[in-house]
Amino acid sequence: MRDQGGHWAWIVSRQMIELAGRRAADEGVPNAHFEHGDAQVHPFGAGDFDLAISRTGAMFFADPEAAFDNIARAIRPGGRLVLLVCQPAQHNEWITAFSTALAVGRAPQQPAPGAPGPFSLGDPDRVRSLLTGAGYVDLRLEDRSEPMYFGRNTDDAFRFVIGLTGSTLDGLSAPERARALDALRASIDTHRGDQGVRYDSATWLVTAARP
Ligand SMILES: C[S@@+](CC[C@H](N)C(=O)[O-])C[C@H]1O[C@@H](n2cnc3c(N)ncnc32)[C@H](O)[C@@H]1O
Repeated sequence: MRDQGGHWAWIVSRQMIELAGRRAADEGVPNAHFEHGDAQVHPFGAGDFDLAISRTGAMFFADPEAAFDNIARAIRPGGRLVLLVCQPAQHNEWITAFSTALAVGRAPQQPAPGAPGPFSLGDPDRVRSLLTGAGYVDLRLEDRSEPMYFGRNTDDAFRFVIGLTGSTLDGLSAPERARALDALRASIDTHRGDQGVRYDSATWLVTAARP
């Protein structure tokens, strides 16, 4: 993760794990243990785990073959792997809306196919090939298409989305930047409802087992 420019994610993850540890202590949960590591190389004990879960994390593995192999070794025979990963960008209204708004007429940025990022595991054939290659069996991909929540109101969601996509503004002139931000705010405003700001999203719930 660190080799692929994920230094920021590395720091944020450490802070989130420290927070999880404090919350577990505050709530008196003695049997939860938190560790900060890179799934591709972390020295998990062989067969130590019944279950490995990732919610929208596995798509960012720089070397998914290494990560799924390493995780497979850590799961006991008969144990399970459960991943939530994004379907391709064109099925996710949120990313097409944000990238179109922030592009201000430029071609929206497209990651190279298969490159680490939110949509790298969107192709079911690629998921099957990676997991089968790492020795998993009983693979299933289930469609989970649900509205995705971005914030309580327009300001809240706007701040969050800028944090998520702000690098898209790089290279814009000041007037282009202002137009991009106006377009983003307008899009967010039209997606505001009783349950906050929500956009359509599509994910795969991937389940597999270790033989
Ligand atoms: C979009 S966040 C999802 C965070 C959290 N699972 C959630 O649902 O809110 C992606 C996460 O994947 C983690 N990640 C990316 N590559 C990783 C790797 N090689 N090993 C462990 N975690 C990784 C990042 O640190 C980050 O926490």
